[in-house]
Amino acid sequence: MPDRPARLVVLVSGSGTNLQALLDATADPAYGAEVVAVGADRDDIEGLARAERVGVPTFVERVRDHDDRAGWDRTLADRVADHEPDLVVLAGFMKLVGEDFLARFGGRTVNTHPALSPAFPGMHGPRDALEYGVKVTGCTLFVVDAGVDTGAIVAQETVGVADDDTVETLHERIKVVERALLVDSVGRMAREGWTVDGRRVRLGG
Ligand code: GRF
Repeated sequence: MPDRPARLVVLVSGSGTNLQALLDATADPAYGAEVVAVGADRDDIEGLARAERVGVPTFVERVRDHDDRAGWDRTLADRVADHEPDLVVLAGFMKLVGEDFLARFGGRTVNTHPALSPAFPGMHGPRDALEYGVKVTGCTLFVVDAGVDTGAIVAQETVGVADDDTVETLHERIKVVERALLVDSVGRMAREGWTVDGRRVRLGG
C-alpha cells in the first residue's frame, strides 16, 4: 500500500454517475485514492455539479475556444497536469485525447467503454451491440491509446442482453456493472500499481 492516496483527475462530459461512484468510494481512506480535480469539455453538466457539491475543484476546456484540436489537447493536458495526477480517469468523457495528452499521460490514463472490446468501439456501444443481436455484451476498462476504444484492457465484465431490451435499458444495466468495475479496478491500480506490457495489463507489483 503506497504511503499516500493516489491522485485521480477525472474527465467527464455528461451525467457523471461513474464519477459519483468514484467520489463515493474515495470517501473511505482505505480505498487508497482521492479525486483531486474533475475536468470537462463542456459547461453545465451534472458531472461538474457532482464534483462541486463535494468541494472538488473543477475546470472546463472547450474545443471551440481553441484554434484547433491540437491546441485544445495541449491546454487540456496542462489543466490536468496542474493537479499532478497519478492516474487520469476518463469517465464518460466524449472526446478523444490527442498526441500531447498521450505524451504526458499515456500509460496512466484509463477510459471506460460500455461494450466488450474489441467489439463495438465508438460512441454507440450499447446500440451497436443490440443491433448486432449479441446475447452477451458488457463493459471494458482500458488504458487509453491513440485509437478509438483500442487500448490495452485492464478489466471487463459481461452483461446479458434481454429479449425486450432497448438501447436505454441495456445501457442502464451495463452502467451498473461499469461503475462497480471502475471502482474496483481504479482502487486496485491505486493500491497495488499496474504494469502494461504490450497489450497485457497486470494489476499489482
Ligand atoms: C458510460 O456508459 C460510459 O462508458 C459512456 O457513457 C456513459 C457515461 O455515463 N461513454 P456517466 O456520465 O458516468 O453517467
